[in-house]
Amino acid sequence: MKLALAAVLAASVHAVAAAAPAAPGGRDDLTPEDQKRVTAITAPTSDFSKVESFETMQAGATTTNKLINADIFSQPSANMSFEGRQEFIVGNGLFRKDWVSAPSSTQASDGLGPLFNARSCQACHTKDGRGTVPGFDPLERTDAVALLLRLAVPEGADRGHPKLGADEIAALPEPVYGVQLQNFAVAGLPAEGRMEIEYEAVPVALRGGETATLMKPTYRIENLGYGPMRADTQISPRLAPPMIGLGLLESIHESDILANVGADKRDGIVGKANWVTDARTGARVLGRFNLKAGQPTVEQQSAAAFSNDMGLSTPLFPKHSGECTPAQTKCLDMPHGAQPRFGPEEVPGKLMDFVTIYSTNLAVPMRRDADDARVLAGKKLFYEANCVACHVPKYVTSRNAKQPEHRFQLIWPYTDMLVHDMGDDLADGVSDGMATGREWRTPPLWGIGLTKTVNPNATWLHDGRARTLLEAVLWHGGAAKPARDRVVDMTPEERADLIRFLESL
Ligand code: HEC
Ligand code: HEC
Repeated sequence: MKLALAAVLAASVHAVAAAAPAAPGGRDDLTPEDQKRVTAITAPTSDFSKVESFETMQAGATTTNKLINADIFSQPSANMSFEGRQEFIVGNGLFRKDWVSAPSSTQASDGLGPLFNARSCQACHTKDGRGTVPGFDPLERTDAVALLLRLAVPEGADRGHPKLGADEIAALPEPVYGVQLQNFAVAGLPAEGRMEIEYEAVPVALRGGETATLMKPTYRIENLGYGPMRADTQISPRLAPPMIGLGLLESIHESDILANVGADKRDGIVGKANWVTDARTGARVLGRFNLKAGQPTVEQQSAAAFSNDMGLSTPLFPKHSGECTPAQTKCLDMPHGAQPRFGPEEVPGKLMDFVTIYSTNLAVPMRRDADDARVLAGKKLFYEANCVACHVPKYVTSRNAKQPEHRFQLIWPYTDMLVHDMGDDLADGVSDGMATGREWRTPPLWGIGLTKTVNPNATWLHDGRARTLLEAVLWHGGAAKPARDRVVDMTPEERADLIRFLESL
């Protein structure tokens, strides 16, 4: 899609009402009667003989019932107004757009880099679904794009770094390479390095004589472009997650998420909220997005993506040189793409608003086969194996959600929005806000059954190491170990039913 920048800037984005802060201990958006209804409808079911009311509309009135094909994650919220859809279409163009480096002949695309991981949002979030890892077969491996490496060094001489809030765990940028490895750069500048992966096959014996083979990755960085990297640098591999349902996750009432922390859970499972800094206000707010819940809003993460992944400035992160560090002097001196007639940033606020409207309104598809007897049997096993301790089935979103589409919807995302210790094998050693190097956010499971319909090469978990849904479950360790062990102990038929349930989401 071609974009006329001036036309886009002239259009307006509908006003966004500020959400009221949560009252401690309860929902400030509901009358006592409403609260009663919400509590009743979100209580976990104990009847697995039939589908629950509204269960197939897993994202409430936003749920899309479009034909299932590779475009199924690219549909707008079904309840979006005509005006909203126009803005969504403009945002879609920006999400797909290939940015180019400054100076260029097409000025509207100026500003990529100097360092970057990809040229467009869509290059990583394939068809608005998850990204592709470089490949399990070393002979067919491609350059990493959607799988990126975050970098951190432990706190040392840098104690008291101003970037950190009081209770944030100190993980500091690598002094030369920064917070993320950019494996591409504009012409005339070296890339920071290349990611190398090795996989080791680990067999897991399952009840009933079956064996699964897990692929255990090790990451290395080669061809360093800016001299040595600190020897104690820790690497956090992260694969681009799917983009569906994000506005609804932002609209879950804070007190409902915090209630998950203290909920009385089997297996002694206690989730943790990740409190992070709001870049606009400096306030400490609940983290919800990214693989460790390190970002509070879709807007802030999208602006961070422009900056860290593509080297583009926005009002929230106005540095034109993106993630060039003070040590990367030539990088800091490269030309940028801001045009004074549109504003001081490469991606002005109006464009940023369209990207946010788009990223918060990609619709979750309707459930398939939710009333199938095997799927219902799998759902029962999902509850019995205690997957629901973390993959919390349902919520009713806030009446005060920023956008009308997301208000007061019964949704079924299967996440508690909290982080959990997932054991040694999944640990990356890199903290993020208050999340430790062993903790990851419970990912939402809605739409997970359509992963390969949208991107046939997609895989699961934070670094895409799981080639099947069963492998993803078998990697669960730490707090999720008892649940994972129950899956190992299931009969082959039961395991197949559990996977059928996941595939129906
Ligand atoms: C180089 C690959 C790459 C590019 C380009 C990219 N992303 Fe991402 N995106 C990721 C990864 C990896 C994560 C998870 C990051 C983390 O956990 O720190 C992510 C996370 C997100 C999330 C949070 C999703 C969730 O479930 O919490 C949003 C929103 C997002 N990206 C939006 C965008 C937008 C908008 C753009 C373009 C401006 C973009 N991304 C460009 C790789 C990419
Ligand atoms: C202690 C909390 C916890 C429990 C219990 C738990 N999970 Fe998870 N689950 C997570 C977290 C956290 C991740 C992300 C881990 C990662 O990416 O490294 C995850 C990831 C997944 C994924 C992959 C999602 C994706 O987008 O890649 C699937 C599928 C899944 N879980 C299913 C299950 C099933 C089935 C059960 C029950 C047998 C279960 N989980 C129990 C926390 C939990």
